[in-house]
Amino acid sequence: MKRGLGVCYYPEHWREDIWPDDARRMAAAGLTWVRIGEFAWSRLEPEPGVLEFDWLDRAIDILGQAGLKVVLGTPTATPPRWMLARHPDMLAVDAHGRPRNFGSRRHYCFNHQGYLGECKRIVTALAERYGKNPHVAAWQTDNEYGCHDTTLSYSGAAKAAFRDWLGQKYQSPQALNQAWGNIFWSMDYASFDEIDLPNLTVTEPNPAHVMDFRRFSSDQVVAFNRAQTDILRRHSAAPIAHNYMGRVTEFDHFAVGADLDIASWDSYPIGFLSDRLEATPAHKAAFLRQGDPDFQAFHHDLYRAVGRGRWWVMEQQPGPVNWAPYNPAPLPGMVRLWTWEAFAHGAEAVCYFRWRQAPFAQEQMHAGLLRPDSAPAPGLAEAAQVAQELRDMPDAACGKGDVALIFDYASAWAWDIQPQGADFDYFRLVFAWYRALRRLGLNVDILPADADDLSDWKLVLAPGLFTLSDTLRAALPNCGGTVVFGPRANAKTANFAIPVPLPPALPGLDMRVARVESLPPGAGIALEGGGTFIHWAEEVEGAATVALRRADGMAALVGTGPLRYLAGWPDDDTLRAILRHLCAGQGIETLDLPDALRTRQAGAQRFWFNHGTTPLSWNGRTIPPAGVIWE
Ligand code: GAL
Repeated sequence: MKRGLGVCYYPEHWREDIWPDDARRMAAAGLTWVRIGEFAWSRLEPEPGVLEFDWLDRAIDILGQAGLKVVLGTPTATPPRWMLARHPDMLAVDAHGRPRNFGSRRHYCFNHQGYLGECKRIVTALAERYGKNPHVAAWQTDNEYGCHDTTLSYSGAAKAAFRDWLGQKYQSPQALNQAWGNIFWSMDYASFDEIDLPNLTVTEPNPAHVMDFRRFSSDQVVAFNRAQTDILRRHSAAPIAHNYMGRVTEFDHFAVGADLDIASWDSYPIGFLSDRLEATPAHKAAFLRQGDPDFQAFHHDLYRAVGRGRWWVMEQQPGPVNWAPYNPAPLPGMVRLWTWEAFAHGAEAVCYFRWRQAPFAQEQMHAGLLRPDSAPAPGLAEAAQVAQELRDMPDAACGKGDVALIFDYASAWAWDIQPQGADFDYFRLVFAWYRALRRLGLNVDILPADADDLSDWKLVLAPGLFTLSDTLRAALPNCGGTVVFGPRANAKTANFAIPVPLPPALPGLDMRVARVESLPPGAGIALEGGGTFIHWAEEVEGAATVALRRADGMAALVGTGPLRYLAGWPDDDTLRAILRHLCAGQGIETLDLPDALRTRQAGAQRFWFNHGTTPLSWNGRTIPPAGVIWE
């Protein structure tokens, strides 16, 4: 596999006479990809039906002539102002019933059929014109589905579509009442037309109602994306990508990914550390200019799974961003480190966001590879250094791991709907397991909850899995080693009820979760021999062998065979100790890496990344701060 670098470029932001020099400088820096077009609708169609593609023809030509391959974005994340006059009810509506107005971006509801029709029209026009263009080497659909909380919409269009979706799923209101348990609080419906969206209720709505709304909303994103890929494929053989985000779980990325050729994501390590990660102030201070050492890697591995092996970073932070509460500059070396880390996890391309910092509008404080005056910004030299290094090492294997971790979007919805304890967050739980595995020096592969073949892994981990699918259940006997479930695994039926017999009902493991409790910060349950459960603990009964107990004698880790169950949420050190023990049982070698050091084996190469601010020595090698070495 060949690896390459790229950049996000907005020719419509700049005078046409500087395009050739921009293209020449991109190529000179060693970039091979350029993504354009994803916000340009108002210039492509200044008035309804008046298409002006000449400027885009010239931009693509100039970039292509300079040797760059173009990723062409469909512009559907930014419908022009005139669209609202045609479709006044196309706006998404938030959970408080307020419309999400024009004046920024993503001001559309996924359910609005009129807007969907307009999207199909502009995508068809683009696909017809550029589908065979030799410089257009890939497509991107829309931009960051779900960004700015836009997956869930409580609009009139959403209500009508939801009723339809429920009608198809349940066929009769009686069946729906039964499935949701609507006898509770006299919530029975006599017709699908009586069912509202689950917002603005007096107190919490029925979790089964919300869960179906979440499934429905995810399906609408899938359908919206598929409408575009169907059109693009009719006119173009170029691969199609979408750029996903960090810690966005509102739609099923695996389901969207099934219609795409490449998964990509937008990686802003410093912004993410500041605005979407539970971490102590000390951790945030230690990684202020580097970002969290595992957050990017987790998404690299997740999107490798979503892309069925093919994935990119479509936007890479090159300097300070504008949107986090605080926006420090990267430590010198980090732009290179982030890029190499993506390649070590199998990325085909890493594209920086953006080429030149825009001096106007919302993102004027967001760095690019160039400053607003076109002088190089610090990120450019690091990008050029990676480009140079890639010339010496153009091909790479991705490598696989002995350990797989299941990530399931429906579980994220379920525990968001019913956390039962303020700190029970599914992403947080899975990410804690991921971090522990990385500290043990392991390659991790991520699997969807309907994985049908576990034979490649010695250890498969499924914390917090809402329901055990029939497919996964059927795959369990063929796991290459041990599967570890829990806490809160297979804890509900698909209809969001507690199953009887009680969970987790794992084949051959005689145990039941008799009671659960959630714990506030500072509270914990001691384990025998040291260690603590935090946030969440379960009381287990049954005859299965207990491998680890709580200090009060109750079971903490159940089972010694191919299936195990962990009955609580261990703190980070305890989790690492438990996973190290489970790895040892499978003959998987582990390391004990310091907080800032990470490693990945990619085929024959082993990479080492120092995410810290001071040099680190490991097994006779010294890795400089913000440094990467490979052997
Ligand atoms: C991304 C988005 C880009 C730009 C960038 C700024 O989320 O896709 O268009 O807004 O953030 O960091």
